[in-house]
Amino acid sequence: MSSMKLGVNIDHVAVLREARRVNDPDILNALNVACANGADQITIHLREDRRHIQDIDAKNIMLHSQLPVNLECSINRDILNIVSGLRPHRATLVPEKREEVTTEGGLDVFTYEDEIAYAIEQLHDSIIPVSLFVDPTMEAMEKSKELGAEMVELHTGLFSNLFAMLNSSLPHSNHSVKELELPRYELASRLEKSLEDIQTAATHAKKLGLEVAAGHGLNYHNVSYMMDIEEITELNIGQSIIARSVFCGLADAVREMKRLTVR
Ligand code: PXP
Repeated sequence: MSSMKLGVNIDHVAVLREARRVNDPDILNALNVACANGADQITIHLREDRRHIQDIDAKNIMLHSQLPVNLECSINRDILNIVSGLRPHRATLVPEKREEVTTEGGLDVFTYEDEIAYAIEQLHDSIIPVSLFVDPTMEAMEKSKELGAEMVELHTGLFSNLFAMLNSSLPHSNHSVKELELPRYELASRLEKSLEDIQTAATHAKKLGLEVAAGHGLNYHNVSYMMDIEEITELNIGQSIIARSVFCGLADAVREMKRLTVR
């Protein structure tokens, strides 16, 4: 038996609030409901463009959260200064592009190794452990270790997209993933390969002494696959939980995800 931590990403509550620019829904209510219904950690992303979480939210969440806060951020110097001051329980470095809808792909730990090393050093100076959000490759695990991170979060976006293209109506909708419009046998084989890559990367990361988390696109239908990978000890999940909460409330949505992620 190994434990699995559920990090509930509440950014999407702030997305809804920002659509109206009023304090409704209140992010602190979301924090309290997630804390009271099975979350093990609260995850938020303070983006450079502040499209959802604002500085004041990050500050209030740090003040009021009864659970550890995993603060995602880019390697932008101004953001790092803010994060260092906030002293979250962990910082997760993620890539950020202004034009993206969500975080697409992991950090490029090779092209930006100097900047990432500097960011890790700055965060460590403020006694903040660091996780790197990376694609599940052996090379990325080794580089993450070399750069001094304590943890990696494996980007499960490809797995999640393949799963959705194979097992949902996504291919027939406007949101079809164009590059994955492939025959079913090809999708099935790529899905299997994506899982093998996650397993191999997780095993390697653990061997290197890194803690292993995973996230992006995980939902009530595909999360069981992550539960089979015993090296993964934490999942960070946002969109699917907040989406379900529209229909059954945040408390039930968090509770149900927690039920599915207990080992
Ligand atoms: N982990 C990281 C590092 C992320 O950037 C995100 C997306 O904000 C998530 C997990 C959660 O992804 P999703 O909202 O698709 O569950």
